[in-house]
Amino acid sequence: ELKNNTIILVLGASGDLAKKKTFPALFGLFRNGFLPKGVKVIGYARTKMDHAEYLKRVKSHIKTPTKEIEQQLEEFCSVATYVSGLYDQDEPFQNLEKHLQKVEEGQKETNRVFYMALPPSVFIPVSEHLKRNNYPEKGIARIIIEKPFGKDLESSRELDRALRPNWKEEETFRIDHYLGKEMVKNILILRFGNEFFGATWNRNHIDNVQITFKEPFGTEGRGGYFDEFGIIRDVMQNHLLQVLTLLAMERPISFSSEDIRDEKVRVLRGMPSIEPKNVIIGQYEKSLDGTKPGYKEDDTVPKESRCPTFASMVAYIKNERWDGVPFILKAGKALNEQKTEVRIQYKDVTSGIFKDIPRNELVLRVQPNESVYIKMNSKLPGLSMQTTVTELDLTYRRRFSDLKIPEAYESLILDALKGDHSNFVRDDELDASWRIFTPLLHYLDDNKEIMPMGYPYGSRGPAVLDDFTASYGYKFSDAAGYQWPVTSAEPNKL
Ligand code: BG6
Repeated sequence: ELKNNTIILVLGASGDLAKKKTFPALFGLFRNGFLPKGVKVIGYARTKMDHAEYLKRVKSHIKTPTKEIEQQLEEFCSVATYVSGLYDQDEPFQNLEKHLQKVEEGQKETNRVFYMALPPSVFIPVSEHLKRNNYPEKGIARIIIEKPFGKDLESSRELDRALRPNWKEEETFRIDHYLGKEMVKNILILRFGNEFFGATWNRNHIDNVQITFKEPFGTEGRGGYFDEFGIIRDVMQNHLLQVLTLLAMERPISFSSEDIRDEKVRVLRGMPSIEPKNVIIGQYEKSLDGTKPGYKEDDTVPKESRCPTFASMVAYIKNERWDGVPFILKAGKALNEQKTEVRIQYKDVTSGIFKDIPRNELVLRVQPNESVYIKMNSKLPGLSMQTTVTELDLTYRRRFSDLKIPEAYESLILDALKGDHSNFVRDDELDASWRIFTPLLHYLDDNKEIMPMGYPYGSRGPAVLDDFTASYGYKFSDAAGYQWPVTSAEPNKL
């Protein structure tokens, strides 16, 4: 664990990720006393700016609802400094080294955490310059890296080959921030800490699993990045696959990071690559009321772009537990709502006494408004034997109303400081995940005649979506017009 004498160096400190996620998370940890004592936070990026201008950026996404927090933010700023320099030459990194040494002055051993909030194009050169010029002689070094980890199996391996001589696997922390989300971290506990879930968690009882990611906004302002990657690389190969892996893996021998990651890799290796016949893709168009632009209206997006902003696909796992169970992944930008959830649909109860009784569903709501609920059939109270769909509902806001749910980045940065790799992506895991997606990605890239289906900004996605999911066995039941009562999510006032 990194205790005293630690520098956190944020590379790409003037960028969006640093501003929106890294600094707010560092501040959250700082003010709650979770950063090492005497920590210094140093930013590095190309943009030239003075100290005041830099602090303005650092603070730009940090809220200070109380005087106390405002004061803590000032303290945080007093440990923050900034150095500007290019990414592709040694000299600026030597200059950075002088600054680091000045900050560390008088200390024998110092630890350095390198947080790479950088565009992929400068990733390799920066990691080389850091190793040559800024690697701590005494003390611990850690490098935290952010996706994209390549664009396919080959480029991901290339990146790995470039990093490997300089950074040991135990020094490397590959972030997938979904692994820091509270509900995602809960999956293993729910599964392995509850006999009633564990016992039914297989192909004998589960008909299909859906993992859904929806965002109500498009790629405005990020079109340039996005167009090169598309929704499959942006969130499915990483975030959604991670959720799938945790849902599907066998029980690890312990909660230690290597035991967990061994099991994750094992389940990924049991997955054949996704077949194009099990995939639909879409791209958003102008909203029906004309107020929101289509994807291609963004100036940074090529007019002929075939980039998917929506995709749904089905993955299978060839093992005893899951053979034949479709894992349906859905992800899209510019949809009707913000929501990430897992929906596990159980099989029909055996026929006989009931007519058309709906299936059980277990829903893990990752965001917003974390909750776990089971759709369950029950007798409608009264004199008849009529059934109704109701729910067992664990809504965090109500059940844990006094607890703050940490931001994913807070949780992960703290893990990296502690040296805990459980919630980071291991090299072989990354390789296994790209293997599952690469044939599909190449197929879509190479076959120019494949066009994504249009869908209006703000809609539920391409019109064929419901037929697509139904064709893999998902049964939508509007029995009694069931709707999860979102109002129950309000904190209990009684
Ligand atoms: C990022 C993607 O990794 O995850 C973004 O690049 C996406 O496109 C984001 O919006 C979603 O993260 P969250 O935490 O807001 O669900």
